[in-house]
Amino acid sequence: MTDQNLAVIILAAGEGTRMRSATPKVLHTLAGIPLVGHVLATARELHPAHVIAVVRHERDRVASVIGETLPEAIVVDQDEVPGTGRAVEVALDALPQDFAGDVVVVSGDVPLLDAGTLGRLIEAHRAAHCAATLLSAVLDDASGYGRIIRGEDGHVDRIVEQKDANESELAVTEINSGSYVFTVDSLRAELSHVGTRNAQGEKYLTDVVGLLRASGSTVEAVPVGQSWIVGGVNDRVQLAEAAARLNALIVRGWQLAGVTVHDPATTWIDLAVTIAEDVEILPGTQVKGATKIDRGAVIGPDTTLVDCEIGENAIVKRTDATLAVIGKGATVGPFSYLRPNSVLGEEGKIGAFVETKNSTIGFGSKVPHLSYIGDTEIGVQSNIGAGTITANYDGVNKHRTSVGSHVRTSSHNVFVAPVRIGDGAYTGAGTVVRKDVPAGALAISVAPQRNMMGWTEEKRPGTAAAEAAAAAGESEN
Ligand code: UD1
Ligand code: CA
Repeated sequence: MTDQNLAVIILAAGEGTRMRSATPKVLHTLAGIPLVGHVLATARELHPAHVIAVVRHERDRVASVIGETLPEAIVVDQDEVPGTGRAVEVALDALPQDFAGDVVVVSGDVPLLDAGTLGRLIEAHRAAHCAATLLSAVLDDASGYGRIIRGEDGHVDRIVEQKDANESELAVTEINSGSYVFTVDSLRAELSHVGTRNAQGEKYLTDVVGLLRASGSTVEAVPVGQSWIVGGVNDRVQLAEAAARLNALIVRGWQLAGVTVHDPATTWIDLAVTIAEDVEILPGTQVKGATKIDRGAVIGPDTTLVDCEIGENAIVKRTDATLAVIGKGATVGPFSYLRPNSVLGEEGKIGAFVETKNSTIGFGSKVPHLSYIGDTEIGVQSNIGAGTITANYDGVNKHRTSVGSHVRTSSHNVFVAPVRIGDGAYTGAGTVVRKDVPAGALAISVAPQRNMMGWTEEKRPGTAAAEAAAAAGESEN
């Protein structure tokens, strides 16, 4: 049920200079989802009446991700006045003037903050009738964060930014998480008084806290239980730390849901993945995107799956696969490379050192060794010989190969597409299949073998090979 008295403002206008990246900070991903996507998902869970996201740096890229993730979010552009305070001010202008409830402010770069924690913050704020309630954390290393300065009575007096802090303020270990609940009227009233006279020349949202206290309002800070929940991502070290935290939670969640994960530290699972009970995941495995894994499948070791569908009891070993569909009971690997639109039927096999692309391999059909299968359909129960290449590209266009059912092709074949091999057909070793093979035919394209007797002793006299041949004594036969 929508909370008509709640609005959420997400700050995502900053440059994120410390990332040193051409990609805006809030679009860097964690478990397959951009930082701002995590924050939007949390916002949605609070069921607010309004979500407003403030953008500026690379606004089009950021705005389009916001639009895709949460279409009902209102995107607002920050002007040239810098700072979190200004960002909130422009966001408030987008709220209906008669909105009289509470405003949650969160940063687009704090991805692990969950709706449960924010929900408790809102409850505390409403229960104590505060003008502002902020989420704080006590850190061993508080550097970079704004510090919470409490008065003698223990109440929050103000927040001082790292760059503006004196030595005793820097020694404070309780930090501002950058997540707050404000009563909208108090926020509007005090923001208009915030200036830019500070080390960064910015309009700080944090100054509102000191102003509220000075005007006699109540401000509380509620510390989080575990500080990583409010960890901001400002550089790539923090990005990796947050990724590891989130991954540990995701892996644990799947373990509790019945998935055997042998090595959580080397298993990476994106948030959008779904995994059934009794799936087994071996070390060094990354399961990414919208991958779905059905019951009893065994994945890994050393496997990367991106947006794949893996059927029941399939085995996928040491494989790299993207947008592939692997049928029930099929086996893949080791050392297989499945490119987009590879579809392997039930009980099928893609074996060692096989690359596939845009191909459908039917029920029980096998491509066991050392092959490239592209733009191909293979029927049911066919076997493709070792070292088979579909020559699908003539330098200009791609062409299709069609292999029927119950076909047996021999080793080291080339199928020069477009070409069709009929049901029940066979090919000989080394065949270059340039013409269609009718159903039931055997295709052979290699010239008969000729043995030139005594060749080595005549043409390579005095070599070890010639001596060995002489010793074998077959040269005259
Ligand atoms: C901010 C807080 C600091 C807190 C820290 C927690 C201020 C002044 N400081 O500092 O007290 O400890 O978060 O993570 O608020 N943004 C805008 N517009 C701007 C500037 C920033 O939208 O003009 C956005 C950024 O995109 C980011 C968020 O606001 O998502 C925080 O900005 P950032 O520059 O990272 O602030 P910090 O220095 O981390
Ligand atoms: Ca930050």
